[in-house]
Amino acid sequence: MKPPEKKLIIVCSSNSQMLKAEGLLKQKKIQTELVPTPSHHGSICSTSILIQGADREAAEGYLGEKRINYRLYPYETKKLTGLMKALMDRAAKQDFLEIMEKLEAGADLTKEEIVRLLNTQSNMEEEMLIAAADRMRKEIVGDRVEIRAAIEFSNYCKKSCHYCGIRKGCDSPKRYRMSEDEILAQVHQIHQLGIKTVILQSGEDDYYTLERLISLIQRIKRETAMAITLSIGERSYEEYAALKQAGANNYLLKIETTNPKVFQSLHPDDDLNHRKQCTQWLKELGYVTASGNMVGLPGQSLEDIAEDILYFKEMGIHMIGIGPFVPAKGTPLAHGVVGNVALTLRAVAATRLVCKNVYLPATTALASVDPEGQVKALRAGANTIMLISTPLQYRESYQLYSNKNMIDIQSAVDAVEGANRLLPKYLKRRNENE
Ligand code: 5AD
Repeated sequence: MKPPEKKLIIVCSSNSQMLKAEGLLKQKKIQTELVPTPSHHGSICSTSILIQGADREAAEGYLGEKRINYRLYPYETKKLTGLMKALMDRAAKQDFLEIMEKLEAGADLTKEEIVRLLNTQSNMEEEMLIAAADRMRKEIVGDRVEIRAAIEFSNYCKKSCHYCGIRKGCDSPKRYRMSEDEILAQVHQIHQLGIKTVILQSGEDDYYTLERLISLIQRIKRETAMAITLSIGERSYEEYAALKQAGANNYLLKIETTNPKVFQSLHPDDDLNHRKQCTQWLKELGYVTASGNMVGLPGQSLEDIAEDILYFKEMGIHMIGIGPFVPAKGTPLAHGVVGNVALTLRAVAATRLVCKNVYLPATTALASVDPEGQVKALRAGANTIMLISTPLQYRESYQLYSNKNMIDIQSAVDAVEGANRLLPKYLKRRNENE
């Protein structure tokens, strides 16, 4: 670019000196212009005189003769050093845009491309990813948010998963088991809200034998006809089959991570391949399957999360719960680092874009680490909220992680409205504008 014509700025010691100087120069036919004094030479309110470089000598002569108190500087216009780089850093890079184009064309993404989505490099890329997932969500599952309710009916567990606040050997929780009647009382409350699906969750507790579970399932079906999701961990093929036979519809068994090393380091009692086998059995038995992972596990990489997403897709999982890892008191990971919320949201968004027609919960773990977590997830591709319908006296004993947020119907409604979405039609307390 052509360098700007050299000009000089005359900064006088006072306003009256400046006016005097300008009058003098004008009189001598020197071309002047009054401008705000540049910030590095004086206050924003003061005025200085701009002259052409060629008039320097003459001007200095006249001003000297009249003993004007002034200083002369080259006139420099303000440079915005680094502007282009800063703006480009906020923009979307070409390779990212190409992934968006692939999504527009309906093409499948590779693992590397999913990693690239998780690894956004600018605000614009992040916004684009979230917007793309929100659009996919809207086109595929619409604006209504599915609401389900969980009863955490026992916190006894025979396993010692390193991250879990109800692991065997953990002293903090007061152990409890709910009776069939207690569980049914909760089921009826949920049913009265109009909710269609109840999630029965517990630690891996052998007290609940097949017989007890079947009795429970059959009673729920008889008295409410609600859909039942079981979330009671690893069981045998035969047990899964019998529970399905008794009326269970869905099964929630999270993979937590597909990285074999990370899985092994967290689950002293489990084997990744066996967990996958259980999921395969559940599918074969006709359950609607739910899985999920945690984001921010020690040793977990972005590649691992991308691999998890591809696993959900390949397994044809119907519901995928993605939450940040949250350190739990009294566990080996009590002093670990909370999973990153923004990365968790990107994982939710990428999962919507890759797995498409699935239920994606705005997880309790997200709500627990960020008060706006559920609204953010609903805007990033999520379409499901799970209420916690465990009786009050047991809730604080089911702290899978510290400061677990208690999602009740009101907070769910707030999240749905906060995200500008619609409550399900079946809910007895409906959107006011419908
Ligand atoms: N942080 C986040 N999520 C956890 N879960 C259990 N412990 C933690 C924790 N410390 C999640 C797991 C589990 C689900 C019931 O709760 O994903 O499958």
